[in-house]
Amino acid sequence: MNNNLPNKVNSLRSAGQSPPSAAWRSKGEVVGLPSVMAVEFIRRMRGASQPCLLRAEDDVYYVVKFQNNPQHPRILANEMFAARLAEVVGLPVPRPAFIEVPDELISGNPQMVIETGTRIEPCAGGLAFGSSFPGDPGLTLVMDFLPDRLLRKVRRLGPTFLGAFVFDKWTCNCNGRQMIFTRSVDDKTHAYTPWLIDQGFCFNDGEWNFPDSPIRNIYPRRLVYESVRGLENFEPYLARIENLDGGQIKECARDIPGEWCAGGRAELQRLAERLAERKRRLRQAIIDAKNSDLRPFPNWR
Ligand SMILES: Nc1ncnc2c1ncn2[C@@H]1O[C@H](COP(=O)(O)OP(=O)(O)OP(=O)(O)O)[C@@H](O)[C@H]1O
Ligand SMILES: [Mg+2]
Repeated sequence: MNNNLPNKVNSLRSAGQSPPSAAWRSKGEVVGLPSVMAVEFIRRMRGASQPCLLRAEDDVYYVVKFQNNPQHPRILANEMFAARLAEVVGLPVPRPAFIEVPDELISGNPQMVIETGTRIEPCAGGLAFGSSFPGDPGLTLVMDFLPDRLLRKVRRLGPTFLGAFVFDKWTCNCNGRQMIFTRSVDDKTHAYTPWLIDQGFCFNDGEWNFPDSPIRNIYPRRLVYESVRGLENFEPYLARIENLDGGQIKECARDIPGEWCAGGRAELQRLAERLAERKRRLRQAIIDAKNSDLRPFPNWR
């Protein structure tokens, strides 16, 4: 725990409060993922969904998105489903988690609010989505963008961005691809590690459909695609996605709470089925992007 962090509140746990009793989260884990209670507000984060950085009872820090975020309740389901799919195909994504946010934490921290226009309301308590902060916030540098000179020093730059490209085509991520780049503050090599973040607009936000477009999902810094000579450069991720079976895809949607689905879990099942169908169109989607006016892969032979 970092005692220098601002806005520290007393740990609810040390105050004798125990996590909520719902059986599915009693073991601190759901479907192999952390399922934990938030115990400390650290700060608000930037971003349209108005997330907060919270510390949880497992002493891990999480960027947390709430059910009443101004985007859509389904972005929580999208984040969880897509992060689990990304993990299964081996893409670097911060560990997703189920975060129980107690009302006491919200009422004790006036900054835990959602602002829409002139309206201000408290963040919703209950189950929220958490994206684990890769490291201790006091000791880890997190960058949303890097200049090209530093981008070239990112570990596995090409494979990660090409894998993310295939993934975004598959899930029809309707937002620009977002990555964070992290390194320890004492790492003088300036070698950053990339992580895929913000999967909230995969499956087209709250729509859960796939308005495909060849010019979507292209990262604005083109040097990340310099290595592309052909479809083979999108491996191993392309084949890994193509080889997923329907059961594996559905498993990644398992135990996503109904409150995150706005309309029920049946639609989430249907979404998983449609993802299984879409795999076979992935190669053509990459070729369509290559041939698009944006010409994202200038070195394609
Ligand atoms: N797991 C994480 N670890 C560290 N920082 C993170 C993590 N996830 C998100 N962030 C930071 O929080 C910011 C907001 O996160 P995110 O982009 O997911 O929110 P958003 O509300 O969807 O943003 P947008 O305005 O792009 O829609 C990011 O720009 C990034 O700096
Ligand atoms: Mg974002």
